[in-house]
Amino acid sequence: MCGIFACISKDNKTAVKVINGLKKLEYRGYDSWGISYKNANGINVVKEVGKISAFDPEEANFADSNVAIAHTRWATHGGVEVRNAHPHLNKENTIAVVHNGIIENYIELKNELIKKGYEFKSDTDTEVIVQMIDSYMDFGFEKAIEKTVARFEGRFAIVVIDKNADEIIACRRGSPLILGVGKEETFIASDIPAFLSHTNVVNYIDDDEMVKITSSERHFYSLRTGDEIQKRDIQIEWNIEDAEKGDFTHFMLKEIFDQKETVQRAVDQSDEEIMAVAEKIKKSKGVFFVGCGTAGKVAKAGEYFFAHVAKRHVNFAPASEFPLFHNFLLPETLVFAISQSGETADVLEALEVAQKAGSTVFSLTNVVGSSIARKSDISLFIKAGPEKAVASTKAATSQLALLLLIAYAVAGKLEEGKKLLLEISSNVNDLLNPRFVAHTESVAKKIAHKDNLFIIGKGVNYPMAEESAIKIQEVSQIHAEGFAGGELKHGPIAMIEEGTPCLVLVGDDESKQEIVSNAIELKSRGAMIIGIASEKHDCFDEFIRVPESGVASCITNLIPIQLLSFYLGVERGLDPDMPRNLAKSVTVK
Ligand code: AGP
Ligand code: GLU
Repeated sequence: MCGIFACISKDNKTAVKVINGLKKLEYRGYDSWGISYKNANGINVVKEVGKISAFDPEEANFADSNVAIAHTRWATHGGVEVRNAHPHLNKENTIAVVHNGIIENYIELKNELIKKGYEFKSDTDTEVIVQMIDSYMDFGFEKAIEKTVARFEGRFAIVVIDKNADEIIACRRGSPLILGVGKEETFIASDIPAFLSHTNVVNYIDDDEMVKITSSERHFYSLRTGDEIQKRDIQIEWNIEDAEKGDFTHFMLKEIFDQKETVQRAVDQSDEEIMAVAEKIKKSKGVFFVGCGTAGKVAKAGEYFFAHVAKRHVNFAPASEFPLFHNFLLPETLVFAISQSGETADVLEALEVAQKAGSTVFSLTNVVGSSIARKSDISLFIKAGPEKAVASTKAATSQLALLLLIAYAVAGKLEEGKKLLLEISSNVNDLLNPRFVAHTESVAKKIAHKDNLFIIGKGVNYPMAEESAIKIQEVSQIHAEGFAGGELKHGPIAMIEEGTPCLVLVGDDESKQEIVSNAIELKSRGAMIIGIASEKHDCFDEFIRVPESGVASCITNLIPIQLLSFYLGVERGLDPDMPRNLAKSVTVK
């Protein structure tokens, strides 16, 4: 959460450049934004509450400057107010800082600084950073930063400028930060799209590293040893179009349509690599799948894939709960993390707990070079291209496909798995036709103004019912809940009134009859049943037909759910790309 973008250049238009780049990171947080840029008069600051996309930098008459840092915020500490927006500056306005993450011991540090006479203007943890750097400035700019970060507990990425230094200094521990190597200019950003229109050559900054940049130079140091570190220039394969929405009105819709290709891309993996993963799983003593939010629901679906296809027991835990199971971790245990961004703080912590116990860590992410991928013993990539909408769509179906393929590999049936998933990919492609999309939109219109909505599923479609609820909640703000069909009669059925919409995800497996019976139970209590199934049933008031997909029905069932969520959001006048209170990449615990 929070997007950071900084540039130091030979050209004088860095303020405009940095604002335009920051707009590409808006998905990371959109409570407020701010920029500090430097020129002969010192450090200038502009901050506003609200979305950066509404701001036109060309009209802002920024003074010429060749150094700028900017930030788009997802507030953790301190309300959404201009005084809490980043950058934060010291009293004399000579040092400016942008920050992503949380300084967990900030109260203790703040009290120490207050005792020294420092006054605070904001309620953020971030302001402690700049004031503390100020307090150490007698040691010089670079040393002051080193001394400051040595005092921090928690995860952070920070970028700092000093009025009197012609450089930008950045460091990280746990929150993402990537360096972009431009032509006579150097960039630092939370994510690659910020500088993708200028360069696709990057250096990954690792945890506990500091980097000092000018327009033509970059020096990396270890914060632990002080030693200089050599980095390899890496050419990344994304192109600008992948990170833009093209002719689509929203990223979410574009990414739903990307699924015409992404399922296939996800399963296009090297046989050797998949078999190596499968062998390690077979030899392990205990497998945990972990993830958060949508990726967590995919991980939970993995339990069913492994039970049915691989006939192997695996455990699922939401990443934030996983550390509580540390007593079960052995060196032979395997922890498999699923994450689109590869930066989710709860997942990173789960992996740290696993590694401390000597367990092996695998990951399935979408972002090459992400913190989770780099931490893992084996990292697989879903190759879905940038996912910018906060609501995860194509990443989820790709993760499901790859996880299912791995289950087939563990069962010794890799070829069968590949064949099935190629069929599923073509089913998804067929589904995303204009008639289907229009039909789903028409169903959304019928229920868009309901207050409550329930989703049920059984087997692998049970975690998908939960995933559907996440999607509908975040995009439409309708109160939605997902259940295992059999659980309703144990309580939640009390919520059903005449006309309450209930989505029923029907699987193409032995769960089919039972979930339809559950739907009939709901209908007898007055529910409006929307069936998502390969076959029509009399109890459906509305029917959304999906192709028969066997054990992979969870993939095809998600497509109409994603479209429904999108159109529910649009119908309720919301921006599906930027749900309330959320951010794309949750890099705080
Ligand atoms: C999904 O629509 C969400 N916005 C969210 O639950 C997301 O899946 C979760 O934060 C995990 O993110 P990750 O996949 O990048 O780890
Ligand atoms: N803790 C900082 C703030 O609230 C940064 C938040 C973040 O990275 O999400 O401003």
